[in-house]
Amino acid sequence: MNPDFPVVGYIQLDNSLLEISEIVNGLEVPWDIETAEDGKLWFTQINGTLHLLDLKTGRQKMIYQVPGLIAKKSYGLLGMAVHPEKKWVFLHYTFAKEQGGLDEEIFSRLERYTFNGQTLGQAKIILDSLPGATYHNGSRIAISEDGKLYFSLGDVGKVDLVLDDAFAGGKIHRLNLDGSIPEDNPIPGSSVWAKGLRNSQGLAFGKNGKLYGSDHGAITDDEINLLTKGGNYGWPEVHGYIDQEKEKLYASNYSTKEPLIAWTPTIAAAGLAFYHTAQIPEWENSLLLATMKGMSIRILHLDETGNQILSEDIFLQKSLGRIRDIAVASDGSIYFSTSNRDWHPRFQPWMYDGLPEGPDRILRIRKMGNNEKPIHGLPVFKKESEAIALMDENWNYGINQELESGAKLYNTHCLVCHGPEGKGSEDLIPPISETDWVVGDKGRLIRLMLAGLSGKIEVNGKQYNQEMPAFDHLTDRELADILTFLRNHFGNKASAVIPGEVYEERKGLRK
Ligand code: HEC
Repeated sequence: MNPDFPVVGYIQLDNSLLEISEIVNGLEVPWDIETAEDGKLWFTQINGTLHLLDLKTGRQKMIYQVPGLIAKKSYGLLGMAVHPEKKWVFLHYTFAKEQGGLDEEIFSRLERYTFNGQTLGQAKIILDSLPGATYHNGSRIAISEDGKLYFSLGDVGKVDLVLDDAFAGGKIHRLNLDGSIPEDNPIPGSSVWAKGLRNSQGLAFGKNGKLYGSDHGAITDDEINLLTKGGNYGWPEVHGYIDQEKEKLYASNYSTKEPLIAWTPTIAAAGLAFYHTAQIPEWENSLLLATMKGMSIRILHLDETGNQILSEDIFLQKSLGRIRDIAVASDGSIYFSTSNRDWHPRFQPWMYDGLPEGPDRILRIRKMGNNEKPIHGLPVFKKESEAIALMDENWNYGINQELESGAKLYNTHCLVCHGPEGKGSEDLIPPISETDWVVGDKGRLIRLMLAGLSGKIEVNGKQYNQEMPAFDHLTDRELADILTFLRNHFGNKASAVIPGEVYEERKGLRK
C-alpha cells in the first residue's frame, strides 16, 4: 500500500501535471539522497547520520552515525553512494585530527561499508587523510555502470594547488570499488581523473556513460561540465567560459575544457541527476539541477549527443528555499532535499529573503495519472519566466548592516577628501555620486582602491589631475564594505562588492 505523503502543490507542464509531496520532514540539512531499485530512499544529514526510508510504507530509520565526526558550517557527512547488489555504501566525511576546528586540522575520508540489513559494518577506507577545510570539501560520489567509483573533492580553499596533479583537492577521482586505482586512469597510479574544479556538489551519469558535474563558481561562473578523462576544467585560471584574454592564453597553453553552461550571478549549483525516462516526457533527456542560492530546480535539456545543453527551464524558484540534492528513481519520480538550515555565507543577505523557516525536508515530484485530480486550493507552479536577480537587484534586503560598516569606514578614510555628500571639491577632488568609476566596471573600481590613482582623469565630463592615495592596507572586507556603501549611497545604485572580489583583484595586481 502506498503511504499518503502530504501534497504541497503541483507543477503544470505543457502536457503533464506533476504532484509535489513531502516525504520526510524534521531534517537538518539532508546532504545526499539516493534512490534504490527496491523502493528505498537513502539519505544523509550533514551532522553524520545515515537514514533509510521505505517508500512503500513511508517508514524511515536512522541506520548509522559516523563516529567522531564534527559538523559545522559546510563540513560534516557529505557525499554518499549506494551499490545495492553488493550492499555497499560509500560515505565521504570530514574529521579533525586534533579537535579544535582550525582549518589546517580538518581532513576528510572516503570509506566503504557493508549494509547488513540493519546497520553498516566492515568499514574499509578507500581514500584517507584527504585535505579538508571548513568549506569547499565537495563532495559527491557516483558509481558508473562499469563499476567504477567517481568522487569529487572541492579545492578546500587551497586554490594555488588545484591544478597540481599531486594535490587531491579540486579534482574528480576515479577508483575501483575496492579502492584500488584503475589501470586506465589518465595518470598511472593516481586516482585523479579530472582537475581544475572548485567545489563540485553534483555528479550524474547520462546517456552512454557520460559523466556530468556541477561546480560552484566564486563570485561569477557556476558551471555544468561534461567530465572527461584527464580533463582540465581551468579553476582557478579560467572561470566559466574561456572568454577573457588571460583565460584564452591559459587555455591555449594548457588545454582546458569549457563548461556546457555557466551562470553569473551564481546560483550555487549543487545536486545533479539525469532524467532518463519518458515518464515526464517534457523532461526526458535532461539534467535536473538543484540550486541553493538560486532556490530552484533547473531543467537543462540536453541534445541527442549529450554534448550540449540546448535550453534551461526554472521551476519552484523561491518556493521551497535552498535545494541541495536531487535524485531520480527508476519509476521516473524525482526526490529532492531542501537545505534551509545550512550554513551559508552572510555577505549576500538578500539570499535570505523568502527563505522558509523550520526544518528541512525531502520532497517528491511524480507525474499524476490522467484520472487523478489535484486538490483544490494548493499552489500550482509553472515554469518561471525569469531568474531572480541575485546580485544586481533585490539587494536592499537586510543590507543595512553592510552599509553601516561601510558608512563608518567611509567617514574615517574618504570623507576628508570626497566630503559628507560625496560631492568632492571643485577642480581638485572628483565627486563620487553617479560617476562611471563608481557604478561602472567593478574590477576597475576595486583596483583603483588598491593601487590609488594619479594623472588626468575625466569624471562626469570634468577633468581632474590630482592624486588619490592607495588603500591596500585595508582588509578585503573593509574595502568591500566601503565600496558596497559607495555604490548604494550618494544617489548610486549598483551591485554590492564582496570580499572575494577584492581578494581576486588584489591577487591579480600582485602578479
Ligand atoms: C587625500 C584625498 C582622498 C582621499 C582620502 C580619498 N580620495 Fe578618492 N580621489 C581623490 C582624488 C584627488 C581623485 C582623483 C584622482 C585623479 O585626478 O587622478 C579621487 C578619485 C576617486 C574615485 C574615482 C573618480 C570618481 O569620482 O568616481 C573614486 C571612486 C574614489 N576616489 C573613491 C574614494 C574612496 C572610496 C575613498 C576612501 C576609501 C577615497 N576615494 C579617499 C582623493 C581622495
